[in-house]
Amino acid sequence: MKSLILILFVILSVNDVSLARTEKSENKKTPYIVHVAKSTMPTSFNHHSIWYKSILNSVSESAEVLYTYDKAINGFSTSLTVEEHQLLKSQPGILKVTPDEMYKLHTTRTPEFLGLDKLASLFPAPNKSNDVIVGVLDTGVWPESKSFDDTGFGPIPRIWKGKCETGTNFTTLNCNKKLIGARFFPKGFEAAVGPIDETTQSRSPRDDIGHGTHTASTAAGSVVENVGLFGYANGTARGMAIGARVAVYKVCWKSLCTNSDILAGIDQAIADNVNILSLSIGGLTRDYKDNMAIGAFAAMEHGILVSCSAGNSGPTPSRITNVAPWITTVGAGTLDRDFPAYVSLGNGKNYSGVSLYKGNYLPDTPVPFIYAGNASKGDEKSDGRCLPGSLVSEKVAGKIVLCDSEYVSRVAKGNTVKSAGGLGMVLANTKTDGEVPRADAHILPATAVGFTDGEAIKNYLFSDPKPTSTIVFQGTKLKVEPSPVVADFSSRGPNPITPQILKPDLIAPGVNIIAAYSKNASPTTWDSDPRSVDFNILSGTSMSCPHVSGLAALIKSIHPDWSPSIIRSALMTTAYTTYKNNQTLLDSSTNKPATPFEFGAGHLDPVSALNPGLVYDITTEDYLSFLCALNYSHIDFEIVARRKYTCDPKKQYSVTNLNYPSFAVVFEGGNNEITHSRTLTNVGAAGTYRVSVKLDIPSVKISVEPEVLSFKENEKKSYIVTFTTSTSKQNITQSFGSLEWSDGRTVVRSPIAFSWKLP
Ligand SMILES: *[C@@H]1O[C@H](CO)[C@@H](O)[C@H](O)[C@H]1NC(C)=O
Ligand SMILES: *[C@@H]1O[C@H](CO)[C@@H](O)[C@H](O)[C@H]1NC(C)=O
Ligand SMILES: *[C@@H]1O[C@H](CO)[C@@H](O)[C@H](O)[C@H]1NC(C)=O
Ligand SMILES: *[C@@H]1O[C@H](CO)[C@@H](O)[C@H](O)[C@H]1NC(C)=O
Ligand SMILES: *[C@@H]1O[C@H](CO)[C@@H](O)[C@H](O)[C@H]1NC(C)=O
Ligand SMILES: *[C@@H]1O[C@H](CO)[C@@H](O)[C@H](O)[C@H]1NC(C)=O
Ligand SMILES: *[C@@H]1O[C@H](CO)[C@@H](O)[C@H](O)[C@H]1NC(C)=O
Ligand SMILES: *[C@@H]1O[C@H](CO)[C@@H](O)[C@H](O)[C@H]1NC(C)=O
Repeated sequence: MKSLILILFVILSVNDVSLARTEKSENKKTPYIVHVAKSTMPTSFNHHSIWYKSILNSVSESAEVLYTYDKAINGFSTSLTVEEHQLLKSQPGILKVTPDEMYKLHTTRTPEFLGLDKLASLFPAPNKSNDVIVGVLDTGVWPESKSFDDTGFGPIPRIWKGKCETGTNFTTLNCNKKLIGARFFPKGFEAAVGPIDETTQSRSPRDDIGHGTHTASTAAGSVVENVGLFGYANGTARGMAIGARVAVYKVCWKSLCTNSDILAGIDQAIADNVNILSLSIGGLTRDYKDNMAIGAFAAMEHGILVSCSAGNSGPTPSRITNVAPWITTVGAGTLDRDFPAYVSLGNGKNYSGVSLYKGNYLPDTPVPFIYAGNASKGDEKSDGRCLPGSLVSEKVAGKIVLCDSEYVSRVAKGNTVKSAGGLGMVLANTKTDGEVPRADAHILPATAVGFTDGEAIKNYLFSDPKPTSTIVFQGTKLKVEPSPVVADFSSRGPNPITPQILKPDLIAPGVNIIAAYSKNASPTTWDSDPRSVDFNILSGTSMSCPHVSGLAALIKSIHPDWSPSIIRSALMTTAYTTYKNNQTLLDSSTNKPATPFEFGAGHLDPVSALNPGLVYDITTEDYLSFLCALNYSHIDFEIVARRKYTCDPKKQYSVTNLNYPSFAVVFEGGNNEITHSRTLTNVGAAGTYRVSVKLDIPSVKISVEPEVLSFKENEKKSYIVTFTTSTSKQNITQSFGSLEWSDGRTVVRSPIAFSWKLP
């Protein structure tokens, strides 16, 4: 599974791990999240928390409330035996009891690449963003990092209600006017795994993993000059919103994040008054009754934009997570920066690879080369994975060894080679790992190549009686073209829950991003790596998500009255989908043009996003209508929207009428004509906009009514689009296009994805 690109933190898959199912014993307690119909609280209780406790006490003498949730959901979390769980489910007022689940955790060239350097001149006042607060739910923070330096910052925004919690190696002195809040949520983790071992991790907001420091500094880190990793990616590091404040909520612990801790973090972040929530975390999305989606709904209602990573499960279609329409879902693309280190074979052929290795290089002259599968001991004979201790020293000493890569332990494989006397290593991606090699700070001269190149190198190894090679390190290369390309690991659509809502929403840089890191973690996350660094280079949609969170903070600082959906609309309708030569952005998994199922509305473009012209706003009421279209029951509404809600039986609800800034048109059940209705709000100057559409195939017709819309300032205007497919049987299942409104200067672009479902 590709999700393991983040090596350590992407270890567990919710598919495999449901906490409740791991314990078989009758008396063992496992954690649950309990949704309660708060509106049915008997009047005899003064406070819902007392009522929750009393419900719990009625089924168990020993069970204790882990967290009482006030904002994110109506309910609480607790640990229960199987029997207590059965009893609790049937208590009055209990809507649903879900097992607590484990979620997984899914940047200096970036500003120039994104044109952020040009942004400075566009700002009316440079310090304005100082009042916007970005909440980051992750592995905590390394507060000493220069990325959280508060020089020049004004007083903490008055709306801020949060705090800096004290714990292992962390006091209130670790917060400042940049890092204004830091909290930690260990109860779900401790209920699932047992007490935190304070010799290996900090029972405090301190980050021992690095992921949280990286994401927080990517979103809103201060400017830090002269950073780099072992001489690579030298330059100035800066977050997307350098003036924004950071509040960290540590909800992920070594190797996992529990849903109950994540919900507690969201609950607190809402209460603390953050403006943006950044979550580079994901689980398995089954429906919008997923606990993280519910917490995000509550945040949205409080005016908080929730930006989430799409997941690292590409290129397989439809594996995307965090797809609720009130969440901004972010995929990953590459930067125009690379770390090339090519393999030069004895037959004169060269294959491009990547590496962050720093140290003594190999001789320029070719050295003997061997495949690990031809040098493994005993049972591992045909195993080329270079597992610890698997190599025969006599066969590899003095040679470069080709190892089959895996998503984990890439750096540890180098140690296997080194310990057996090998001189260097070439890591070849397996087929499931795809064509994009991962750059690592190897401990011996080593480079990584994609699957196809790896196969070609193996052909040479198996056909030449005396194979040789060397590795040529070329440092940091800038202005790599084409860029961006969609990262192969980036999770793709179609949306597995509501195919009529296009996901991901957009892509942002997520490959080889340099940002601040924890000094308690090694740069390679390999346990035996003794090195520690101030900045590290990581890849994943975990890295692309905070780019969007930070840009959303920047937009919020300029337009404080914009709703989360207006901000998302601005990000989406201004995103770009082509290179300068007008060719569509490529997908690295195929090297062919990518589609809206890979990049959504396209790649984020900060400068244009500040002036979108027209936007698609979505209110809470609109989302409730959307849930009506999904036939949500009374209980579903109480769980997701935390209220009693009745759909109007006279009203025709349709998922195609949610005012989304993109179109996913699904022809199914012989229905050849689909209508979507939309409402635009003018957030720019008064003007007249005309519509134009582009289609990849002629067999679909689009009509837009009306085709011209004239707006006064702040005016709203609606239109209807009808998509008609020719009745003849389609020999394709997908096609794409776009719909643009333009006043001659500002283009408001929506992607269109068509799917045909044969009866
Ligand atoms: C705020 O503005 C002042 C004066 O223009 C400047 O010195 C300071 O660096 C700015 N701070 C930030 C965080 O932009
Ligand atoms: C606490 O901080 C010190 C110095 O920063 C470090 O050496 C130590 O490992 C830290 N302890 C933990 C448990 O993180
Ligand atoms: C990057 O910085 C390091 C340390 O300052 C320096 O040794 C190295 O030469 C620099 N590399 C490049 C490519 O500029
Ligand atoms: C491969 O790289 C070597 C240097 O290592 C260079 O001399 C040679 O010309 C390259 N070959 C090709 C085919 O590019
Ligand atoms: C090396 O391994 C490959 C693949 O396992 C095999 O095809 C080849 O015959 C082996 N070569 C030698 C010399 O054992
Ligand atoms: C790209 O398309 C635009 C608009 O159609 C056109 O003005 C421009 O010349 C094209 N650029 C290239 C390099 O083809
Ligand atoms: C909702 O129910 C209606 C009427 O039963 C049905 O036509 C429609 O397909 C259902 N919608 C969904 C999303 O299940
Ligand atoms: C679909 O069929 C049409 C006409 O039969 C043909 O021109 C077209 O190439 C086909 N498309 C694909 C994707 O097979």
